[in-house]
Amino acid sequence: MSINQLVYLSQSVRKVSAEELRAIQATAQANNQHIDVTGSLFYNGGWFLQVLEGPAPTLASLYARIEQDPRHKHSRVLYNEPAKFRTFPRWTMNMINLDDRQADKYDELVEVIDAARGDRKIGAASPAATLLKIFRA
Ligand SMILES: Cc1cc2nc3c(=O)[nH]c(=O)nc-3n(C[C@H](O)[C@H](O)[C@H](O)COP(=O)(O)O)c2cc1C
Repeated sequence: MSINQLVYLSQSVRKVSAEELRAIQATAQANNQHIDVTGSLFYNGGWFLQVLEGPAPTLASLYARIEQDPRHKHSRVLYNEPAKFRTFPRWTMNMINLDDRQADKYDELVEVIDAARGDRKIGAASPAATLLKIFRA
């Protein structure tokens, strides 16, 4: 079945603890496994960046639900394109908390979030394309 990848950026309404992030991840994992969705959630200093992968109609309804979640605001889709392969095939929802500075690929990921916040490109590439490339390698 053909899939899309959707990437959005949003702002948390307040500082999110590691525990709250794990709770969001647990809900996401429990739901996503039933709807063939995979992806990754990144959190950095009040900003969420999430990659959702799955059938386009499923992503549309899932994103509509996530967007309404009162834990975040000003959600903005950065990328929504067909993809040949999933970037996170083994994750019903991966989660990387960049407030934990030990995170793998920390510098690259913070740069992606900064660029997305500022509506800037990274070289010639959009922040979302750069993000997907980081994990494709
Ligand atoms: C940043 C963020 C990312 C989320 N990602 C997902 C997700 O990938 N899948 C999902 O089902 N719910 C996700 N949620 C939770 C949904 O907004 C919603 O609370 C949940 O789907 C409701 O599930 P329930 O009816 O099982 O409680 C996310 C919430 C936030 C704040």
